[in-house]
Amino acid sequence: MIDHNTVQQILDTADIVDVVSDFVTLKKRGANWIGLCPFHNDRRPSFYVSRSKGICKCFACGEGGSAVNFIMKHEQLSYPEALRYLARKYHIEIQEKELTDEEKQAQTEREAMLMLNEWACSYFEKQLHDTQAGQEIGLSYFRERGFNDATIKEFRLGYSSEGYDDFYKAAVAQGFNPKLLFDTGLCIADEHGGGRDRFRGRVIFPIMNIAGKVIAFGGRTLKKDKNIAKYVNSPESVIYSKRNVIYGLYQAKREISKEDKCFIVEGYADVISMHQAGFKNVIASSGTALTEGHIHAIRRFTSNVTEMFDGDAAGIKAAIRGVDMLLKEGISIKVLPLPPEDDPDTFVRAHSHTEAEEYILQNEADFIHFKSNIVLKDAKNDPIKRTAAITDVVKSIALIPDEIARMVYAKECSTLFGFDEQTILRQIKQYRGKYLEQWRKEREQQQAREARMNQASGDNTATQPAPPDDMPPAPLPDDLYPETGPADTPPTTHHTVNVNDGIVVQEREVIRLIVNYGMCYLTDTEYDDGSVRPTTVLEHINNEIFLENMEFSDPLYKRTFELALQYVPQYYKDLEEFKKQLKESTSQYISQEMATQDEVAPDALDSAALISAQERKEKEVLSRANVRAKQAETEFSSSYLMKALCSIDDDDVRQLACDLATDNLPQLSKIHTQFAVILEERDKLLSLVPDRLYNWKNALLVQAINVIKERISHASAEELPQLMEHLQKLYSVRHELAAVIGDRVVNPN
Ligand code: CTP
Ligand code: MN
Repeated sequence: MIDHNTVQQILDTADIVDVVSDFVTLKKRGANWIGLCPFHNDRRPSFYVSRSKGICKCFACGEGGSAVNFIMKHEQLSYPEALRYLARKYHIEIQEKELTDEEKQAQTEREAMLMLNEWACSYFEKQLHDTQAGQEIGLSYFRERGFNDATIKEFRLGYSSEGYDDFYKAAVAQGFNPKLLFDTGLCIADEHGGGRDRFRGRVIFPIMNIAGKVIAFGGRTLKKDKNIAKYVNSPESVIYSKRNVIYGLYQAKREISKEDKCFIVEGYADVISMHQAGFKNVIASSGTALTEGHIHAIRRFTSNVTEMFDGDAAGIKAAIRGVDMLLKEGISIKVLPLPPEDDPDTFVRAHSHTEAEEYILQNEADFIHFKSNIVLKDAKNDPIKRTAAITDVVKSIALIPDEIARMVYAKECSTLFGFDEQTILRQIKQYRGKYLEQWRKEREQQQAREARMNQASGDNTATQPAPPDDMPPAPLPDDLYPETGPADTPPTTHHTVNVNDGIVVQEREVIRLIVNYGMCYLTDTEYDDGSVRPTTVLEHINNEIFLENMEFSDPLYKRTFELALQYVPQYYKDLEEFKKQLKESTSQYISQEMATQDEVAPDALDSAALISAQERKEKEVLSRANVRAKQAETEFSSSYLMKALCSIDDDDVRQLACDLATDNLPQLSKIHTQFAVILEERDKLLSLVPDRLYNWKNALLVQAINVIKERISHASAEELPQLMEHLQKLYSVRHELAAVIGDRVVNPN
C-alpha cells in the first residue's frame, strides 16, 4: 500500500492538463482546455479540462473526473495502480513491496497479464543483449537492418531463444501461473502438461498500448524457409484487441500531435526505420485493414493521415481499399506512392532525410484526386467505364462529412472527368442521403440493442428534479420527523414516491454545493460562547443540519458529507501553510513591482510631485497585491474540498464528486470567452446556500404533510383531531421556514 503522505504528494503534483495531454491533444479555450474525448468516438471536441479545478469531463458521453479517475478509466487501472502511474510520471518515489504469491494471484486478470507481459518484454530484451545467441542471431539481424541502439531500446526489441520452453520455464520459476502464460499467448499448453514458447527462435517486436504498456508481441522468424510464418503474433486477449491497437502509436503520439499529421505504413520494420530516419509521426496497422477502432485511436491526435504504400499495382489496390472508412470518419486523407521497388523501410534507408522530405513534398497526393486519376486511367476512353469510374469516385466523396469539402471535390471532379458539375453534385447528394439513412438504421439497431441490455441489467433512469412546490416554510420541533420514519410509514403511494425523489434531488443540490464550495468562506457566525467566527459553506450546512435535526437519506450523500467533514481540520492546517507562503510571495511581488521604473513624470523636477507620485504608486501596488493575495486564497479554499473528494479512495464518492464538480464546466468557459468575465456561482453563495437548504427542508416537510394526509384519509374518528392538529402544525412550520433560514445567515456587511 502507498502511504498517506505519498498519496497526497501525488495528488498535489499531478496536473490534469499534463496528464490528459499524454493521450489527447488539447487546445486552450477560455479558462479551460478542450480536445476530442478519448472515451467515445468524438467528432467535435467535447472533452473539457479545467486546470484550476483539476478535473476533466466529456459533455457528450459524461466520462471524466480527476487525474486519478482519468487514468483509471483510460488505462483500465485500479485506484492504487493509477496512483502508481502518476507517481512514475512525476518521479515521486513509492516504496513498492515485493509481491507475494497470493498477491500475484489476487491481482485482477488484466493487471496480472500486463505485469507478465512487462516482465516478458524485459526478459526478451535481456536475451537479446546479454546472451550469446541473442547477440549473434537477434542483435546482428537488427544491426543488419540498420537499427541503432537507441531505436532498439525505444521500441524495446528483443529475442526469444530457440529452446522449446526456455521462456516457459523461466516464467514459472519467477512465480507466474502457467494459466497466465497461456492466457497472454506467450506460451501454448502442450500435451505433456507443460507449455511451449510461442515466439521461440524469433526476434521480438513488443506491441504497446497508447500508454506504453506491453499488451502483445510480434515475433519475426530469421529463417528463410517459406513454410515458416514470417510473423507470429500474440492472440487476442483481455488486454489485446487487434481492432483497436495501432503499432507505434505510443512512440509516435507526441510527434503526430505536434505535426498534426501521421503516416500510416504496413509493417513493424517500416515504422521503426522511418522513426529512426527522423519521421517519428508514423504508425502501422500491422498487416490488417484499418478499423474504426484504429481511426478512433489516431483521431485523438490528428485528423490528417497520409497513407504510404508500395508503388506497384498491388500496393495501389491495397491503398484504395479501406480508405472509405477514413473518409467517412472525416479524416483528411492523402496518399504517398513510393517507387515500385521500395517499401517505407527500404526507401528511408536509401535516401537522406532531406531527400525523403523532398520526395514526400513532390508525391503526396490528395486521395480523391489520386483515386480519380487511377480509375480514369483504367477507363481510358470507354464511355461506359468512365461512368462507372465517376460513380466510384462520387461514392467516396459522398462519405465526407464536411459539406464544403464535398463541394470542392465535386467541382474538381467535373473538370477532371469532363462531367457537368451540377449532375455530380446531385449524385453526391443522392448517395449521401442513402448513407445517412443506412447509418441511421445502424445506429437505431445499436441503440435498441443497448436499451435491451440496460433493461436486462435493471438500470434506472436518472431522477428528474421535482417541479418547485408551492410556497413557504421553518424549523421543526423535534417531534415532527418521526412520522416520516420507515417504521410506521404507510403503504407507499405514487405521490409519496415522487416526493421522496424530490428530497433526494434537494439533497443532491446541497451535496453539490459542498463538493464545489465546501471550504469557501460564507459568512461570520455568532457561536454560543459569544465569539464570532468566519464560517465556511460546509460548516454552515453542518450547523443547519444539526440545528434542524436533519439527515441525508441517501447513503452515498451521507457518506460524502461525513468524509467532507473529516477534511476540515486538515484544511485549516493547510490553509495556514498556504497563507504563510502567500505572504512571502506577496511581499516579493510588492518589492518587485516597486522596483520597476515608471516612465518619468512630465514635471519630474518638482520634488513634491515626485513624492506624491511615489506614494500613489505605493498605494496602487499595495492594493493590487492585496487583490492578488485575496484571489489566490479564495481559489485555494474553493477548490480544496473538490480536489480532495475528486481523488478520494472511495469509488462511489469520488465518482459522485467528479460528476458534481463538472456540472457547469463548459458554460463557464463559454461565458468566459464571450464576455471575458467568469460568471460564478461562487459569488452567489450567500443566497444560494440558504436557498438550497430551504428547498431541502421544504421537501422534507412536504413529505411529512403527505404522510399525515394519507393517515387522515384512513383515520378513525378518535385519531382524527390529533392528526389534524399535527397537520396544522406542519403547515405553520412550513410558512415560517423561509424567514428563519434567511435570518440565520448574517451578512456582516
Ligand atoms: N504480418 C503478420 N504476419 C505475417 C506477415 C505480416 O502479422 N505472416 C504483419 C506484420 O505486422 C508486418 C506487416 O504485416 O509488420 C507487414 O508485413 P511485411 O511487409 O511482410 O513485414 P515487414 O514488417 O515489412 O517485415 P520485413 O521488412 O522484416 O520483411
Ligand atoms: Mn518490410
